Amino acid sequence: MTDASAQTRTDGRQVAAVAAGSLQARGLSKSFPLSRGFLGRPSAHVRAVDDVDLDVTAGTTVGIVGESGSGKSTLGRLVSLLERPDSGSVVLDGQDVTRLRGKALSALRPRLQVVFQDPFGSLDPTKSVAHAVAEPLLVHGRIRRSGMLRAAEELVSRVGLDPGLARRYPEQLSGGQRQRVCIARALALEPWLLVADEPTSALDLSTRSEILNLLLGLQEDTGQSILLVSHDFATVQHLAHRVAVMYLGRIVEEGPTQEVVGNPLHPYTRALLSAVPVPDPAVQRTRRRIVLHGDVPNPANPRPAAGSAPGAVR
Ligand SMILES: Nc1ncnc2c1ncn2[C@@H]1O[C@H](COP(=O)(O)OP(=O)(O)OP(=O)(O)O)[C@@H](O)[C@H]1O
Ligand SMILES: [Mg+2]
Repeated sequence: MTDASAQTRTDGRQVAAVAAGSLQARGLSKSFPLSRGFLGRPSAHVRAVDDVDLDVTAGTTVGIVGESGSGKSTLGRLVSLLERPDSGSVVLDGQDVTRLRGKALSALRPRLQVVFQDPFGSLDPTKSVAHAVAEPLLVHGRIRRSGMLRAAEELVSRVGLDPGLARRYPEQLSGGQRQRVCIARALALEPWLLVADEPTSALDLSTRSEILNLLLGLQEDTGQSILLVSHDFATVQHLAHRVAVMYLGRIVEEGPTQEVVGNPLHPYTRALLSAVPVPDPAVQRTRRRIVLHGDVPNPANPRPAAGSAPGAVR
């Protein structure tokens, strides 16, 4: 296994090596029934995740990029054990956790936390911020009910919010503040692995960079591993040590972010990168958006896109 301290992000900053949070997924596959035929039996399936291997070194960030429907969220749910794979395995810190059930699974849950795309739908409007953030601590017996407000104030401060916001309700917060609350709740139980599934796509541009910087800083402080899922290369580019590119349920290219961005090997990676705007308008004008030609991809009947190359792993 690679030492986390040897991994460098595109911003050049290194992260400290930590003990917990290494993940190895091997041969993960997951299909969903697409339509039902006679007697309600599934007649067609969509291969949402198809034989995927993924490694996350403890204390590092791995980005998963790909267009809508490529299987990113399903992969995130599989590795955070919210969904069971049809085949393959998930190994967390050397322990095969794929088939854990009951108490063993409940004991592991705090270690695997997910932040979802929609900070509006992720919070119960009838519960205060203090309740949302400190409830996991109460449920796991880490605090008493009387200590909820104090614990919540401390947690919301960690994500850069005024502790006074702990007394408010979600509808009294902006989108960016709500997403910070969701991150605070996910961090409450000190997870080893945080799966952030499009954590900024419901937010405006300036708030996006604030949330990404927050994740960056939190990882430096607490050293948890992050799986950052996004349809957009620009979102993962400066945060992820490594990036995996998904296409029709498969990882078609994987490697250190700097290398993948600087020298993309797969045509699909090149196409995704060509969609990322460059800040300099003069350079942007000279760039050509690559559009892959051929049939529209259909995950239920996957065929390689025209011009596609075999998967590239560095
Ligand atoms: N519970 C489900 N039942 C049926 N099909 C599903 C289910 N979840 C995902 N799929 C299908 O699996 C494929 C992958 O979906 P997934 O949500 O993982 O993609 P994604 O890359 O996260 O897309 P997006 O960027 O739009 O969020 C899609 O074709 C989707 O319709
Ligand atoms: Mg998704």
